[in-house]
Amino acid sequence: MKNSNKIIQISKKVEDMAPSGIRAFFDLVLGMKDVISLGVGEPDFVTPWNIREKAITAYEEGYTSYTSNKGLISLRKQISHFLKYKFGMEYDPENEILITVGVSEALDLAWRTLINPGDKVLIPEPCYVSYAPLADMAGAKVISLITKAEHGFKMTPSELDQACQKDKIKYLMINYPSNPTGASYNKAELSALCKVIKKHDLVVISDEVYDDLTYDFEHVALSSLPGMKERVVYLNGFSKAYAMTGFRIGFACGPEKVIAGMTKIHQYTILCASINGQMAAEEALANGHKSVNMMKIEYKRRRQFIIESLNEIGLKCHMPEGAFYAFPSIKTTGMSSMDFAKDLLKEQKVALVPGVAFGPSAEGHVRISYATAFEDLKEAVVRIKKFIKS
Ligand SMILES: Cc1ncc(COP(=O)(O)O)c(C=O)c1O
Repeated sequence: MKNSNKIIQISKKVEDMAPSGIRAFFDLVLGMKDVISLGVGEPDFVTPWNIREKAITAYEEGYTSYTSNKGLISLRKQISHFLKYKFGMEYDPENEILITVGVSEALDLAWRTLINPGDKVLIPEPCYVSYAPLADMAGAKVISLITKAEHGFKMTPSELDQACQKDKIKYLMINYPSNPTGASYNKAELSALCKVIKKHDLVVISDEVYDDLTYDFEHVALSSLPGMKERVVYLNGFSKAYAMTGFRIGFACGPEKVIAGMTKIHQYTILCASINGQMAAEEALANGHKSVNMMKIEYKRRRQFIIESLNEIGLKCHMPEGAFYAFPSIKTTGMSSMDFAKDLLKEQKVALVPGVAFGPSAEGHVRISYATAFEDLKEAVVRIKKFIKS
């Protein structure tokens, strides 16, 4: 048999792409018994029953076909009403909204629609694992803006200004509440950033998939602020707040030209998101809010517990404003984040994600997901304490 390694070459870009640090680490967890996992970024709740039931009956009633490429018009109209009610934003359901396979697809489409080779994209770091690889695949030159722990991992207006003065930045990626740090921006902080965004004429991709999980203030959508709608591609989805990760439904809202471009790529690569997933998303928007609130109250209780506990055992940790992640410093242990995570897993069977998975600047930190049952969180703290002592 011929060696297929010699026959088939994969592209240089893909060859050079690092695999997701989260997945690589969780391959180690597979097959281990009695591990408490604080690793994966998904709700421990099962999707609320009314939403699951809607998906089941959709199949029973014979909804098994493609939908319009842009997604069900009924869902797009609902999203449009919802955004108007929640943030006062006006998006035309015919031309300014696209239903995607999760925010993940929307991110890929947005980069590929906007980027010309060599365009400079500024990405605050630590950040969600897919931003830089997807922008790079689209041909962008990625520049990191390193956020600081003493600022709660928030980009400041002057840091943004300086980064734009140093390099001719065309696009900014923003994610709040943030994965992995839980940092978010209130209205005053966003308004200050908007001044700089306008000063440098930036176009922004805003990933607000955790917006409903904001604990200390009202989330404000970036594109709802004056003069921002025309320069923002707003991304959101159902995975996190509604505990619908497996349904794979997200959406993008933006200027008609951008949504038309994204739709072109989407119609050739995906055709459409699944019909029963879209119908379940309609049910989520219509009748899912009570469940979201119940889950949010529980996350908030866990947040209080885990942040207090981590600080008590000597792992300094800021109070995250949203999402379901704690991002403590492990610098006092003198270990690298990868060694800390590997040894903790081996010795105490607790899985968390090493900070480096979210960019080199996140070394010295680990990410803990508190989308984990309260009892497990309690036990995990006991085990982490033992590990640090030893
Ligand atoms: C910040 C952020 N954006 C996007 C995604 C992907 O979400 P989806 O399930 O909608 O593709 C995730 C998933 O962890 C995330 O944390």
